Amino acid sequence: MADVLLEVNHLQTQFREGKTKRITAINDVTFQIRKGEIVGLVGESGCGKSVTSLSIMRLLQDTAGEITNGSVLLNGKNLLTLSEKEIKRVQGKQISMIFQEPMTSLDPVLRIKKQMLEEIQLHMNLTKEKALEHAADMLKMVGIPDVAQTLESYPFQLSGGMCQRVMIAMAMSCYPDLLIADEPTTALDVTIQAQILDLMRELNRKNGMSILLITHDLGVVAETCSRVIVMYAGRIVEQADVQTLFQNPRHPYTRGLLACLPRIGRRVESLPSIPGTVPSLNEMPEGCKFAPRCRLATDLCREKEPELRDVEGCEGCQVRCWLAGQKEAKEALK
Ligand SMILES: Nc1ncnc2c1ncn2[C@@H]1O[C@H](COP(=O)(O)OP(=O)(O)O)[C@@H](O)[C@H]1O
Ligand SMILES: [Mg+2]
Repeated sequence: MADVLLEVNHLQTQFREGKTKRITAINDVTFQIRKGEIVGLVGESGCGKSVTSLSIMRLLQDTAGEITNGSVLLNGKNLLTLSEKEIKRVQGKQISMIFQEPMTSLDPVLRIKKQMLEEIQLHMNLTKEKALEHAADMLKMVGIPDVAQTLESYPFQLSGGMCQRVMIAMAMSCYPDLLIADEPTTALDVTIQAQILDLMRELNRKNGMSILLITHDLGVVAETCSRVIVMYAGRIVEQADVQTLFQNPRHPYTRGLLACLPRIGRRVESLPSIPGTVPSLNEMPEGCKFAPRCRLATDLCREKEPELRDVEGCEGCQVRCWLAGQKEAKEALK
């Protein structure tokens, strides 16, 4: 397909534990992002969303993590086989990432101005003066009130929310083809959240920037994304266009997540939720990883892990469930 920007195939990442042990954090992760598309990635905490993004970005070197299988193609080129030098040219310019923890991506000993200039001048052909103007414009766009003073500051002189906004401005400053935004607005207040989502949507509309938006806010997904990927225990369990996912979720886990959405008129204390917790990487169940929490689970589910398979009659929809689509399961889940 000509319009595919990112193609992730059977990606597996493991973490070393002690000398010999390896635990698998994500497994068989396969999905595509088209040019200009905004894709949501959802799932409870610990499901592997951040590990997936760090793996795509080749940013696992500071952890005990290692990609042990699969490929990540950007415009057809496998990022996993690029040299360190080559990948540095891709990071920031072609793919940029906004991290959950802003402090991890700002250099504590450099003024904001210096960091932004370095990034912009590395990837864009601008004079120092123009690059500085561009940096200031980006800071304005993420709602930083005192741009001049912020440029002169060190990260520790700024609040967490300000650092987050600086990081977002930096990530978007070179107009990447793909922005991976890992819970980008979690630490920010509601007004700024809305402003930053607007800015992302604007860059998507104007520059055709694709976005992988990781969030636990399904309301934001409904408003922003055209497609949604649901992860559970390091696997993709469902993928669909946003309308199908909200109107006709097929995986019991997706149904559980949607049931957690507050509805108007429902008291907050009475929210239905999914009982139990995400299994730890050391104690992964044999079969379907969701089976222990699924009230429909059969012996087959407990024994054998289902594959992610195409849903018949639903273009681009995939589900990893033995029971999805079966009439009895549908009835039981009503
Ligand atoms: N640096 C690390 N070392 C060991 N295990 C890790 C590391 N980072 C993440 N993990 C494990 O990988 C799994 C997926 O984590 P993560 O991708 O951060 O989840 P999410 O972003 O969906 O909340 C979790 O079980 C987590 O404990
Ligand atoms: Mg995360």
